[in-house]
Amino acid sequence: TEYTNILVEKRGRVGLVTLNRPEALNALDKATMDQLVAAVTAMDADPGVGAVVVTGSGKAFAAGADIKEMASQGYMDMYAADWFRGWEDFTRLRIPVIAAVSGFALGGGCELAMMCDFIIAGDNAKFGQPEINLGVLPGMGGSQRLTRAVGKAKAMDMILTGRFIGAEEAERSGLVSRVVPAEDVVEEALKAAEVIASKSKPVAMLAKEAVNAAFETGLAQGVLFERRIFHSLFASEDQKEGMAAFSEKRQPEFNHR
Ligand code: HXC
Repeated sequence: TEYTNILVEKRGRVGLVTLNRPEALNALDKATMDQLVAAVTAMDADPGVGAVVVTGSGKAFAAGADIKEMASQGYMDMYAADWFRGWEDFTRLRIPVIAAVSGFALGGGCELAMMCDFIIAGDNAKFGQPEINLGVLPGMGGSQRLTRAVGKAKAMDMILTGRFIGAEEAERSGLVSRVVPAEDVVEEALKAAEVIASKSKPVAMLAKEAVNAAFETGLAQGVLFERRIFHSLFASEDQKEGMAAFSEKRQPEFNHR
C-alpha cells in the first residue's frame, strides 16, 4: 500500500507507525485515519508483529482532527460520511498498541492516544480537549475515555475549560503510564513494545481483551470473563512452554500458539 500521511516500519517483532504531516501538526484528516487504521490492521493480522507503537513527529503527536477539513461540513455530510467511524476499527484492534506522545496531543490527538492501550509521554507532552473553543465537543470518544481515565473532576475541568495539562499532571491523573525525557519517548515505547512482542501474541491479545472488559462489564462478569480465558489458555502450547521453561530455569520460547 502507498502511504502518504504516515511512515510505517517494522523493527523485529515491533511495528512503528509515525504520523507524518508535521506541517499541519499531524492533524488527523480522513486520509490519515484510513492509512493509520489500514497499517495497524495489517500488523494485527501479521504473526510476525507482536506489538505496535504509534507516534507523532515535529511539535506534535497530533493537534486534533483536521479542523480545515471539517469546518464547512453540514450535519448530513457528517452523518452520511459517518465522520470518525474509522476510529472504531482502531479500537477493535487486538494487537497491543502503545502511544508515544511528544508535544501536543489535543482534541482528536488526545483521543487517539487514549484509544491506544497505554500512553508513554515525553516530559514536553501537552494533553487537552480544546474542542469547546471551536464550538463543538470531543467527537472521537474523549468525553467517555478521558472520564474513565482521569475521573469526572479532571475530565470536566479539561473538557469545559479546554485547558491543556502537562506530562506530570497527566501521569498524576492516570492518563499516562510513564513520563520519560522527550528525546527518548519513541525509544522507550519501542523497548516496551519489544518486551510485549517477546510474549505469546495470542496471550497478550487476550490479556488486552481482559483489561478492556473492566471498562465494559461489571466486576463479577469481568472476573468470570478473565477466569474463562485463564482456563482456556491451558489448551495452548505457549502455556505448556511457559510453565516448562519456569521449572527448567530457562527462558521460554513461545511459538504464538
Ligand atoms: C488543521 C491544524 C490543526 C488542526 C494545527 N493545524 N492544528 N490544521 N486541524 N487541528 C495547522 C495550523 O493551522 C497551521 O497551519 C499549522 O498546523 C501549525 O500550527 P500553528 O497553529 O501555527 O502552531 P502553533 O502556533 O505552535 O500552535 C499550536 C497549537 C495550535 C496550540 C496546537 O495549532 C492549535 O490550537 N491547534 C488546534 C488545536 C485544537 O483545537 N484541536 C482540536 C481539534 S478539533 P498553517 O497552514 O497556518 O501553517 C478535534 C475535534 C474532534 O480534534 C471532534 C470534533 C467534532
